[in-house]
Order: sequence, then C-alpha cells, then structure tokens
Amino acid sequence: MHHFRYTGPNLHCESVDLAEVARLYGTPTYVYSAATMADNYTRLALGLTGLDVQLCYAMKANSNIAVLRHFANLGAAFDLVSGGELRRVLVAGADVKRSVFAGVGKTEAEIKLALENEIFSFHVESEPELARLNHVAGKLGVKAPIAIRINPDVDAHTHAKITTGKSDNKFGIPLKFAAAAYEAASKYPNLQLKGVQMHIGSQLTEVGPFVEAVEKVAPFAAELKAKYGITYFSIGGGIGIVYKDALASGAAAWWDAQPAGSRPLTPEAYGAALVPLLKPLGLKILLEPGRFMVGNAGVLLARVEHLKRGAGKNFLIVDAAMNDLVRPAMYESYHEIVPLQRDTSRRALVADVVGPICESGDCFAKDRSLQEVGEGELLAFMSAGAYGYAMASRYNTRSMAAEVLVKGSAFELINARESFEQIVAGEKIPAFLK
Ligand code: LLP
Repeated sequence: MHHFRYTGPNLHCESVDLAEVARLYGTPTYVYSAATMADNYTRLALGLTGLDVQLCYAMKANSNIAVLRHFANLGAAFDLVSGGELRRVLVAGADVKRSVFAGVGKTEAEIKLALENEIFSFHVESEPELARLNHVAGKLGVKAPIAIRINPDVDAHTHAKITTGKSDNKFGIPLKFAAAAYEAASKYPNLQLKGVQMHIGSQLTEVGPFVEAVEKVAPFAAELKAKYGITYFSIGGGIGIVYKDALASGAAAWWDAQPAGSRPLTPEAYGAALVPLLKPLGLKILLEPGRFMVGNAGVLLARVEHLKRGAGKNFLIVDAAMNDLVRPAMYESYHEIVPLQRDTSRRALVADVVGPICESGDCFAKDRSLQEVGEGELLAFMSAGAYGYAMASRYNTRSMAAEVLVKGSAFELINARESFEQIVAGEKIPAFLK
C-alpha cells in the first residue's frame, strides 16, 4: 500500500500535487512519501509481533539523510556497507550503536571508524576478514562484535544479479564450513561472537525461499547460542514489492482482488510464516529490509521532450535517463509509467520510453502502452524509491537529480539538483598539459 493517487485528473503524493513539485523544482526529480515509508515500517514491525526484533533499514536502497532521520524517528537502526554510509547515519543524527556493518571488503579504515562509533556488530563474509577485524580491534584495545554470514544455498527465484544465497555467489560462508569458521573466530582475542547472519537475495515475491533458508540455518543458530552464547540471528532483507501494477497496488482493494496463491508477498504473510520458526530460538531477530521500506514510497518525475514517430515504432523521449534510474538498463526491470495528468479521453500510445543518453540501453520501457502525451507533459516512474537515486550517476555529465520529501500537504527539497560546478569541482588540468 502506498500514498500515490489521482485526485481528480492530477497524480498526488499524499496531499501534494506532483505537477506542483515539478513546477517548483524541475525534472528529473525523485519524490518520496513519508507516510508510505512509515506504513511500511509499521506493517513489517507488526507482522513480526511476538519476536524481539531490531529492524535495520538497509540504507543502500535510499540513503538520503532525511530518509534516514525519518526511519530513525520511527525506531529503525541501519544496515550499512561503507564508511560513507556510516557517516551518513551520524549526519542524520541516528544510532550507529544499534546498526550493523555488512559487505565483503571492509577496509581497515572503515572497521576503525565503525569500532570508534561502537557499531552493534560486523557481518563477516570470510575468514581473512576475521583476522583483519581482530587486528584492528586489537590496535584500538577493544573487541569487535561479529556475526558470520552463512550462505544457506537457497534459490531465491529472483534476478541473477540480485540473488545472493546460492553457493556460487561471492557472499557468506557455506553452512558446512560455518562451524569451523565460528571455531576459528572464537580463538581470536579481540573478537566477540555476537550473532549469526544470512541474506538470500533481493526482490523475493514469495515466502518459500525465506522459510527454506530459516529452516536450514535455525538449528545452527541454536547450536551457536548454546556453545558461544550468541544473542541474535539476522535473517537479512529481500522482501519484494509490486512493480507491474504499482499504482493500483496502493489501494487495499487491489490486494483483496488478487487470487489467493498468487498474491504478492506481504509483511503479514512473511511474519506469519517466519515467526513460528524463529520464536523458539529465543534470540533477538535482526532484519535488513531495504527495498520493502522505500521502493513503493518513491517516484521519479520526468518531462516529455519529444514524441518521435519512427518507422513502425514510436519513441517517447523524456528528460530522465539511465543515469537517473539505472534499474531497467541493468536488470531489465519494469517500472510502471503514468501521466501526472490523467485524461481518459485521449488515445493510448504504444512507444519505447527512452532517455536522451547516447546508447540504446538508455531505455525505460519497450512497446509500452500509455496515455498519449506530448512535449512538455509530465510522467511519473513508479516504485522508484529504492535503488533509484542511490544508484544514479553523472554519465553524459548529467546532474544528479533533485529529491523531495512529502508529508501530508507539506513538502520540502531534501537534495538540490546538482550544479555543473559541483560536478567538475574535483577535476583539474595537470601542469604537464598546460
Ligand atoms: N542485506 C544485505 C546483506 C544485502 O546485500 C541487501 C541488498 C539487503 C540486506 C537489502 O535487500 P533488499 O531488502 O533491499 O532486497 N540494486 C538492486 C538490489 C541490490 C540488493 C543488494 N543487497 C536492485 O535495484 O534491484
């Protein structure tokens, strides 16, 4: 469920007319709904009632500091993957002490920064990393809190680039080697064995793989609790969202109309399947949802530059491009595209929706049917709150887009569009070329 709706002909985010946002701040601009993020957080927390849960928002999905502050205010901690992300948590005035640090290649400097800020735990991906953590903690005279990431070898049935829990992925330690890894970890004087972790992939739309992974790892977690006194089990993130019917899925009625058995994963179904498996462990349960928390809470606004009628094909050329939203080019992912002003009297147009970047991959949608629109009219790319701005680049010397946060009838710019001067600020011509 989300808070993007047509009120009359105009698409609104909560009570704000999105055309007004585009008029004030231009396009391309990301717009986020604070109420949708709060609903997502609350539904997930409620779905897990009965467990001692620490919800660590996977901030890689959307790390704007206003978004972080919003989740911190709701009670979330963070799953972070770099020194930069850790510093964002600090800038947001949020809690590092309840946050976890993941990733396969943490540098010594990043480990030091995390230890100095009393990180809740490191999620360790390999045996060499144990040695490095022990070394840095020793130099600081502290113990590094850790959990080892187990790779449960479960097929998450998701896109190959975002599946992580198979044995041929670079992530984690296979279950069969995990006992030895914990044994090795227990011998290091500057490590504290605090938990166990897993994450099987992203954009999972069914609960089965989560159940399979928890069933595989839970007995091992119980062993670790008995042997080393670990206190938590992190079950990762990965809950998927609706992309195809994104706008319609904002309404409860849409969910009710989905045939039982093919209803996309809900936080309630996720909780109902997992709570009974996790509760008997008597461990704190950590969660690292990213996409679920923000994906349906954001749209990307774009303006139509031209409608180019080609030989047997139409191209709708917009002012957003793959540098702003790379998911379609990178994962062939689908984002619903809707007009900011709906006019049911118009014909449908079938077109490829493309950006202005000089490569064919800069295509958001092929042969998409949408309301006929022309130059200057505005569109919204739905479900763009996760891995949208966060994965954007400056390719073609295009500025990073603006970001706006809406709450009720209030809205504010939370990230100004980047200027050309900011883009080139770090560049210089070397003396030998002068
Ligand atoms: N925990 C770990 C260890 C992860 O690697 C990830 C995501 C998450 C949690 C959060 O997963 P989520 O709840 O968002 O599914 N850029 C891709 C997604 C990459 C996900 C990477 N890891 C996309 O746009 O689909």
